[in-house]
Amino acid sequence: MAVNKKLGLTALGAAMAIGLTACGGEGAGAASGEAPAATAAPEELTIGVSMPTQTSERWIADGNAVKSQLEEAGYKVELQYANDDIPTQGQQIDQMLTQGADLLIVAAIDGTALSSQLQAAADANVKVISYDRLIRETENVDFYVSFDNFKVGVAQGTALLTGLGVLNADGSAGTATGPFNVELFAGSLDDNNAGFFFDGAMSVLQPKIDDGTLVVKSGQTSIEQAATLRWAQETAQKRMEDLLTGSYADGSKVQGVLSPYDGISRGIITALQGNGYTTPLPVVTGQDAEIASVKLINDGVQSSTIFKDTRELAAQAVTAAEAFLEGTEPEANDTETYDNGVKVVPSYLLPVETVYKADIQSKLIDSGYWTADEVAKGQSD
Ligand code: BGC
Repeated sequence: MAVNKKLGLTALGAAMAIGLTACGGEGAGAASGEAPAATAAPEELTIGVSMPTQTSERWIADGNAVKSQLEEAGYKVELQYANDDIPTQGQQIDQMLTQGADLLIVAAIDGTALSSQLQAAADANVKVISYDRLIRETENVDFYVSFDNFKVGVAQGTALLTGLGVLNADGSAGTATGPFNVELFAGSLDDNNAGFFFDGAMSVLQPKIDDGTLVVKSGQTSIEQAATLRWAQETAQKRMEDLLTGSYADGSKVQGVLSPYDGISRGIITALQGNGYTTPLPVVTGQDAEIASVKLINDGVQSSTIFKDTRELAAQAVTAAEAFLEGTEPEANDTETYDNGVKVVPSYLLPVETVYKADIQSKLIDSGYWTADEVAKGQSD
């Protein structure tokens, strides 16, 4: 177990910790009247990082970025992936705590399933940073780093309209008026983000459904109907096949599909191709700029994705972790939006970018997120 460097050290522990600390002490002063906050050298501290799954590249990239940036800052890191299994994630976090983790960074599978672990963390004075997905229904979450999730949804809805030609890429009104047949997909309902994405998308799509530009032939317009448990590609593929059989057997065609995540998009595309749709396929949106989907966009198969730079998100998580471990509070840029059912969690939200084929070079390759070679192969090196 690492030396006790949590807040509320004993006098001896604090003296030792301060003695060990060469950096970061300046900002750690507590308000007068409070016990002085104490810090330990990063080398003395272990940060537990709990990620949901390795089946999606996005989380592998996040895990790698958080780990390497924390290690660069000197911390020891215990990184675990939970295989999209809720009990596994709980056990992994329990273990991080019993092994003396000093701070936790958690991207939850189910945002409400970690209450007992987080109570144990609070009891041990271990701060918890909720990573990208808000942890809900607990007081014991200290900070949230994410992207502006409502805007992700707005960007997805806008990308669907742009792909159909209802809007131009600059947001101005396009020439196409429809009516267009579209179907709607949402993410996993136990992930707080799913609602933000869907609501954001519907904020731009609902008026177009109301005025007849868009027609959802299946009638499945609620998030419950559109949801995809665990964001699973196969589940999305199956639902798309069912939609095609159920609502398009009369020879009509679907022209656009709102998809909240690239893995879901690939399931939808497989279903469309399996039902005889050929390029140009219906407009399919996405999220995460996963390399397999960037290739599909480059090849003119998928229409768009939303780029969320996981390197930037990792950097924010590291900044917040450093602040807590130095005894200060991380800087939030949103203290209103993310009510987790018990409290509003102070948040740092990053901006997002829509990527169409024409943007791959400037937004993904020039920024070093993917290489041209990876895009051509559809695989990361
Ligand atoms: C993330 C998305 C991701 C989805 C599926 C969400 O919580 O914000 O970026 O596409 O999970 O992994």
